[in-house]
Amino acid sequence: MTDTLTIRRPDDWHLHLRDGAMLHAVLPESARHFARAIIMPNLVPPVVRGEQAAAYRDRILAALPDGMSFEPLMTLYLTEDTDPDDVAAAHQSGLIKAVKLYPAGATTNSASGVRDFDKVRPVLERMAEIGLPLCVHGEVTDAEIDIFDREAVFIDRVLDPVRMSTPELRVVMEHVTTSHAVEYVVSSEVGLGATITTHHLIINRNHILAGGIKPHYYCLPVAKREEHRQALLVAATSGDERFFLGTDSAPHTDANKEMACGCAGCFTASNTMSLLAEMFESKRALDKLEGFTSIHGPSFYGLPVNEETITLTKGSPVEYPAKIETDDGPVTVFEPGFPLHWRVS
Ligand code: DOR
Ligand code: ZN
Repeated sequence: MTDTLTIRRPDDWHLHLRDGAMLHAVLPESARHFARAIIMPNLVPPVVRGEQAAAYRDRILAALPDGMSFEPLMTLYLTEDTDPDDVAAAHQSGLIKAVKLYPAGATTNSASGVRDFDKVRPVLERMAEIGLPLCVHGEVTDAEIDIFDREAVFIDRVLDPVRMSTPELRVVMEHVTTSHAVEYVVSSEVGLGATITTHHLIINRNHILAGGIKPHYYCLPVAKREEHRQALLVAATSGDERFFLGTDSAPHTDANKEMACGCAGCFTASNTMSLLAEMFESKRALDKLEGFTSIHGPSFYGLPVNEETITLTKGSPVEYPAKIETDDGPVTVFEPGFPLHWRVS
């Protein structure tokens, strides 16, 4: 039986680091294992222009503890006023690796997102020309659409039309949660990838709602039925290059999660590698873990793979802190509800 596994150091292709006290507290949790991460721009105010991304990158690097290495891969938040020239300049200088599309109102701090997709066509066309990927939060926001259907409807109403009208645009469907999204990615020809989070491989909607409401399992897109979780697990462990890890680790303080209108987000930065090893082992697919965490992402983004390695070892259950402390208050670490046996040594 395999009890050690050495893989290239992983990257996280979708991460929320926030700012200020929260940034200082959560950054080491990612940098401990991950070499690089695509940094989400949904700050308040959002990171919309190149100069804001440069300043945010500097704040991230300044918060990195001595002796840790970590490369933030910056993104810009797409608005209806985004200037294609500003995007192209930020790409050309090497500052940004993607642009993020939030439909307005879809999730945390998405009020400045896109309502009218025709208004962003010039930016998308420029991105297609220069080979800059678009990361998409794939949910419609119409109040009439059931929250569990919002991803599937987004594919038909928005994503597919955008891809058909701008076929050269490289797109990452972020945090896919349904078999529909998996099938859409698998049936696509070129230029489409998808990230899968750690928590969507582990929880279904019962975890959130059965036996009492569990705010720490609430995220967006919300976890779906078990059959969808199974489809995600098959995709992640398949070795298909189009699927790669984006944890969407999204810290909120306990006070902001455990309230009448609690924030969406699961905080998985601390224990993701142990969680993934457990899940891949359950599918007898430990040999596919490295592709998912360390190879498919760089390949999609046209970046070199990491040369360093990490080693996972299997043994008696490993304990992670239940919470990390921040100057804004405690943040609960995602608790899978089963023991973890793989530790990063
Ligand atoms: O659960 C989520 N949390 N989903 C998102 O799309 C945003 C994120 C956040 O920023 O908290
Ligand atoms: Zn996110």
